[in-house]
Amino acid sequence: MAIREILKYPNPTLRKKATQVTDFGDTLQELVADMAETMYDAPGVGLAAPQIGVSLQLLIMDVTDKEEEPELIILANPEISEGEGSDIDEEGCLSVVELTAKVKRFAKIRVKAQDGEGTPLDFIAEDWFARVIQHEVDHLNGTLFIDHLSSLKRAMYKKKRKKQLAQEQAS
Ligand code: NI
Repeated sequence: MAIREILKYPNPTLRKKATQVTDFGDTLQELVADMAETMYDAPGVGLAAPQIGVSLQLLIMDVTDKEEEPELIILANPEISEGEGSDIDEEGCLSVVELTAKVKRFAKIRVKAQDGEGTPLDFIAEDWFARVIQHEVDHLNGTLFIDHLSSLKRAMYKKKRKKQLAQEQAS
């Protein structure tokens, strides 16, 4: 297991559409282990494979509270087949540094996916769990949460990030 580097906006890999997982063998299991170590180390509640530079339709999350036992959820080839209601809440992203913002999402979704072994899953998710899934599934389509903000807010972030990267390069 190893902690992998988390790619940050505007890295172009974050914008690619990820390819389907077809092989659930050792390589995938190692990737999942690395992703879990990276996510818990960050720490974050969710991580999609493209965020560590692997353009595969794979995401992991742990939405338990700090006091609870950790529970890693692994979703391969996830698809949001139904969505209803709406909910606005604050989001952040390990790939979008120093920004949180309110994002509108479905309150309840139906998800079709496969687990880490390739077994088909079909379930309903609500509230915070549903939000994390929607955020992570976006990553697999090259979408970031900033794409859900107003163009003004997005432009402001882009500018701030550009400045920050220029400063990093200069120092
Ligand atoms: Ni994210």
